[in-house]
Amino acid sequence: MKKRVKKPAPRRAKAPVVASASAPVSVVILAAGQGKRMNSDLPKVLQPLAGKPLLQHVLDTAAQLAPAALHVVYGHGGDAVRAACADPGIRWSLQAQQRGTGHALLQAMPGIPDDHQVLVLYGDVPLLRAQTLRELLVLAAGQISLLTVNLADPAGYGRVLRDARGRVRAIVEQKDATAAQLRLREANTGVMVLPAKPLKKWLGALRSDNAQGEYYLTDVIAMAVKEEWRVAPLVASSESEVTGVNDKLQLAQLEAAFRAQRAAEAMRAGATLADPARFDQRGTLKLGRDVFIDANVLFEGSVQLGDRVRVGPGCVLRDMTVGADTVIHPNCVLEKSSIGSHCSVGPFARLRPNAQLQDHVHIGNYVEVKNSVVGQGSKANHLTYLGDADVGEKVNVGAGTICCNYDGVNKSRTVIEDGAFIGSGAMLVAPVAIRAGATIGAGSTITKEAAAGKLTVARSRQVTLEGWQRPVKRPR
Ligand code: UD1
Ligand code: CA
Repeated sequence: MKKRVKKPAPRRAKAPVVASASAPVSVVILAAGQGKRMNSDLPKVLQPLAGKPLLQHVLDTAAQLAPAALHVVYGHGGDAVRAACADPGIRWSLQAQQRGTGHALLQAMPGIPDDHQVLVLYGDVPLLRAQTLRELLVLAAGQISLLTVNLADPAGYGRVLRDARGRVRAIVEQKDATAAQLRLREANTGVMVLPAKPLKKWLGALRSDNAQGEYYLTDVIAMAVKEEWRVAPLVASSESEVTGVNDKLQLAQLEAAFRAQRAAEAMRAGATLADPARFDQRGTLKLGRDVFIDANVLFEGSVQLGDRVRVGPGCVLRDMTVGADTVIHPNCVLEKSSIGSHCSVGPFARLRPNAQLQDHVHIGNYVEVKNSVVGQGSKANHLTYLGDADVGEKVNVGAGTICCNYDGVNKSRTVIEDGAFIGSGAMLVAPVAIRAGATIGAGSTITKEAAAGKLTVARSRQVTLEGWQRPVKRPR
């Protein structure tokens, strides 16, 4: 087959079988391997990196390319893998026995039309960037493209064999390589783009007469070259981008690489990080200008920080929005909530889902807020639980106040209107309302509505007993 002989295109009658830049892309992710070296009951491709399964990283990257189809070849831990990545758009192919990468890819081929380009990815190579794959796809127009990487220590990898003119001729596996070939530093990443029609033929012709007795996908390269296909190499610019995970050590190394990438992004966006090595972003982070992030802060899910926000050390923020000029003091755990601008939160504050702090709110140490609105300028500075509460503006909640929102069966709401002052140690037994401008005496247990603008006290009177004596120890 001489694919470079260009016939004059006879109209658009038949789709060309030779892949072009515009050919639809079928992505195939090989994920059937066992991952023995993980020493774990969890299948390798489900091991989490930055809080997300390895395979999910690859699926998310593939989705950015908007491919015509997305195939996953699975085997080990099959049902768990399918359940964990249950996107209905995925087409699953079972490779019951792991007989090599070529055999794995073959399992997906019956579902791939002849005029597609096939992009081969790996379930255990999580940090590959969509931009690199776009470049690889552009290179693949009318030919084959192959992602390679130059490694200081390529041990274990297949080596890329080039001729004197630098053209790729073949890939030889480590275990099948000669001493001279082992000295080559250019390694096969395994990521490649090939036209579906000839690929089906080549995969069908693979043989397993090699050192590992496997059907090597890599042998396809020499077959293609023999048929005068050109193999365009793209040399990856970073090693971590193409590194696969085999054990927990490599997993931790890639986690560190991921962390460093996110920290670099945050700094490029203008954030000041007290220590980039102690910055963890495991989701998406939108940053305003001049944000400062102290050491050991963990961001998960989708987090948005406004201009000049400061986050103290040791905080965890998960699915949060924080308004401009707000200060988060050390050691806060903040989840699925929103904080307005010019607020002060912590140290040691906890926001549980659906806490909505409006602007200029102060939430101090050992204060927990859940499913509550706290109005503009209100303060709860110490040791307080605001659960299922609607707190108005300019309210002052004294230390040790509790919204008793749960009767053991049902949750009820507490309403605290504008300008109320709650003395320390108050128990507000919901459902209950504290009207505007009301004052609650310290230590009160409030079970009925407290009138607007008045002092309400609900506790037993203080008495002093004359002649009372402390007990003394009885003689034995
Ligand atoms: C493979 C390449 C090697 C390359 C290296 C990059 C081959 C023959 N060799 O080697 O040139 O340098 O990757 O990391 O392709 N898999 C299956 N089914 C199988 C075998 C493997 O799904 O039967 C999957 C694995 O889950 C894994 C990937 O394919 O995601 C690579 O398999 P692995 O056995 O790690 O290949 P290597 O020997 O590392
Ligand atoms: Ca491997």
